[in-house]
Amino acid sequence: MMRKARIPDTMKVAVLNSYSGVDALSIEQRPIPTPGKNEVLVKVAFAPINPSDLATLVGYYGLKNPTPIVPGGEGSGEVVAAGPGVMAGYFLGKKVSCSGWGIGGGVWSEYVVKSVKGGVLSLNKSLSLEQGAMSLINPLTASAFIDISKKGGHKAILLTAAASSLGQMVNRLGRSEGIQIINVVRRDAQVDLLKAQGADIVLNSTEAGFDQQLHDACHQANSRIAFDAVAGQLTNQLLKAMPTDSKVIVFSALSRQAIQASPDLLIFENKKIDSFWLGPWISKQNIGKMMLLWKRAQKQIPNHLKSDIRKIYPLQDVKEAIRDYTSQMTGGKILLRM
Ligand SMILES: NC(=O)c1ccc[n+]([C@@H]2O[C@H](COP(=O)([O-])OP(=O)(O)OC[C@H]3O[C@@H](n4cnc5c(N)ncnc54)[C@H](OP(=O)(O)O)[C@@H]3O)[C@@H](O)[C@H]2O)c1
Repeated sequence: MMRKARIPDTMKVAVLNSYSGVDALSIEQRPIPTPGKNEVLVKVAFAPINPSDLATLVGYYGLKNPTPIVPGGEGSGEVVAAGPGVMAGYFLGKKVSCSGWGIGGGVWSEYVVKSVKGGVLSLNKSLSLEQGAMSLINPLTASAFIDISKKGGHKAILLTAAASSLGQMVNRLGRSEGIQIINVVRRDAQVDLLKAQGADIVLNSTEAGFDQQLHDACHQANSRIAFDAVAGQLTNQLLKAMPTDSKVIVFSALSRQAIQASPDLLIFENKKIDSFWLGPWISKQNIGKMMLLWKRAQKQIPNHLKSDIRKIYPLQDVKEAIRDYTSQMTGGKILLRM
């Protein structure tokens, strides 16, 4: 094993002991793992708390390994040791973004072993480790939404939970590509936030007259594609408001409710429901396209694909950090510092 720095024997790790929420988390001291062939050891710097992490805590996410598990879907850090293999050696000393999928598991940990085949990606030197920690999930998802929309010839996108970090990215990226975004949020403060950032159309789903406003906006812009993070009855409202031959792509279930859809909209108006999950979407792209997307995303992270940061907590205070995030999700990410 090649090393770049002195590595202690043990590390602090956040452990989820059962899929029963934040109270099932504890901080443990564990031995530092050794990277195997084509693996590297990352000294983790920062990791955001994302909605997918909240879903993981209650067993509502697509990955559900038997507990105990280490949560944390993405993070940043420096490669401090490399196992055998040319690629592993290449990463030694590099600043990287790492995913919580696959070998090594989640990144809410002071150190983590990752495979060089997709578990780590080099970060541009100019990027901060704070922004680097949030460079994977939302930036690539926003890029994917624009990619899917452009491929389908769409000039307008309907987007829910639009004041989220991801929503703000889609707005900025969409504007730069000449794509109109019809934003749906659930509070007036979110309308103000997006309008202050230059969004044209922002509708509050809790307001009287929302359905009519949504119908008018979708028909004026001929918006036939929607990206829905909320699900439940909102999905049906989107389907109803959009012109015939439209599609709603559900990519999260923030409402934790089953998707509603009136059969007549599907049968007589040829409206469709589809889904999006970043991991499988990436696996379907060829490696060349993925590297191009990653390179472009890195360049855009300081502007279109930037995430605001509301507060940084030490890993030790992970429970307090999660409670803070859950109480106010809009207005910047909460980061864990390892
Ligand atoms: N499928 C995928 O591969 C994929 C990839 C990336 C992101 N996502 C999803 O994209 C969404 C945004 O992620 P993010 O990291 O950008 O989130 P974020 O910045 O943490 O913001 C979450 C947003 O969701 C809103 N929200 C929460 N519960 C809601 C509900 N029941 N109805 C309507 N709005 C609700 C929050 O508004 P309040 O402040 O009012 O609570 C907040 O604006 C998440 O659902 C995430 O899981 C999915």
